[in-house]
Amino acid sequence: MDTLHITDVAPRDGLQNQSVHLSTEAKLGLIERLVKAGVRSVEATSFVSPKAVPQMADAGEIVPRVIARWPQLRSSVLVPNLKGLERAHAAGAQEIAVVLSATETMNRKNINMGLDEALRVSEQTLAQAHALGLRTRAYVAVAFDCPFEGETPLREVLRLAARMYAADAGEVVIADTIGSAAPGEVRRRIAALRDVVPLERLAMHLHDTRGLGAANAWAALEAGVRRFDASVGGIGGCPFAPGAAGNLATEDLVLMAERSGLPTGISLDGLLDAVDFAEVQLERPLGGRSIAWLRRQRAKRLESEESLRQRGYTQFEEEKP
Ligand code: COA
Ligand code: ZN
Repeated sequence: MDTLHITDVAPRDGLQNQSVHLSTEAKLGLIERLVKAGVRSVEATSFVSPKAVPQMADAGEIVPRVIARWPQLRSSVLVPNLKGLERAHAAGAQEIAVVLSATETMNRKNINMGLDEALRVSEQTLAQAHALGLRTRAYVAVAFDCPFEGETPLREVLRLAARMYAADAGEVVIADTIGSAAPGEVRRRIAALRDVVPLERLAMHLHDTRGLGAANAWAALEAGVRRFDASVGGIGGCPFAPGAAGNLATEDLVLMAERSGLPTGISLDGLLDAVDFAEVQLERPLGGRSIAWLRRQRAKRLESEESLRQRGYTQFEEEKP
């Protein structure tokens, strides 16, 4: 049956811009809840400069602990350059993601390289990772709009996606980094992208800044994409805008997919536990568009289970969404 492959990027994309510093234990606690919810793929951390992103300074500690504890979990790590790859490999990482932006300015702001250099470094990093026997992903960031340069030309996205595929990236991840895409444009861009990257190697990384994350995911689904990044609780948004504007929330994507007959293997109840945990850690309300409804459903179910328990029943199945 048609299944969705979801990579939960909360431990990396979600945490990298949080004002609250999380301990390594707390990050592992979040991953533990994702695993319990049935998530089979995560982006665990990033090997970037700790000066650029202090929250990711413990990457070298996270990776061996994740691998030892959940050997069955697919865990990728973001690396911006060869030094990042070297550190990731030394820590035992089995999969890396390079991050190439589709505009000159975004590359400069993010990784202090121009587009040409970023492309060359991404290709070298992929080649080196393959030589080391690692799995790979390649982000094409700001694939719709760039916060500095405006609309990103589609031909540039196609050129870079094709180069990442030619460099044998296991997944080419098309990222709506600032959450500005709309479903019509998603459909148009995926239709063009599938001519340069086989659909099964294409992944979509969406942000929900304008409330269109799920609609965009649906457009990508209808265009044939089955690989998605999402972040539990929609973590990744601006710390000063409560409950807003992070990645597409994993719970929204799972709810939409399952209600539409696409199994994900992920439990919504389990995701709720992860959101609860993240809220305590990050000290603010979290959750995607569906969170209030999901919590009401859970409260109702717990109430009816309690009443059944009082009448002597003990076995309960998780309710389908
Ligand atoms: N991990 C850790 N340290 C790194 C590193 C890496 N991947 N790459 C470079 N460094 C270190 C260098 O060793 C050097 O250290 P020193 O000052 O102690 O000698 C220092 O960083 C500067 O090196 P340089 O190559 O000049 O890097 P830079 O200052 O041009 O920064 C990046 C380039 C890529 C390291 C930095 O911009 C970065 O980490 N960006 C990531 C941003 C990010 O995570 N964005 C969100 C994800 S998309
Ligand atoms: Zn992102």
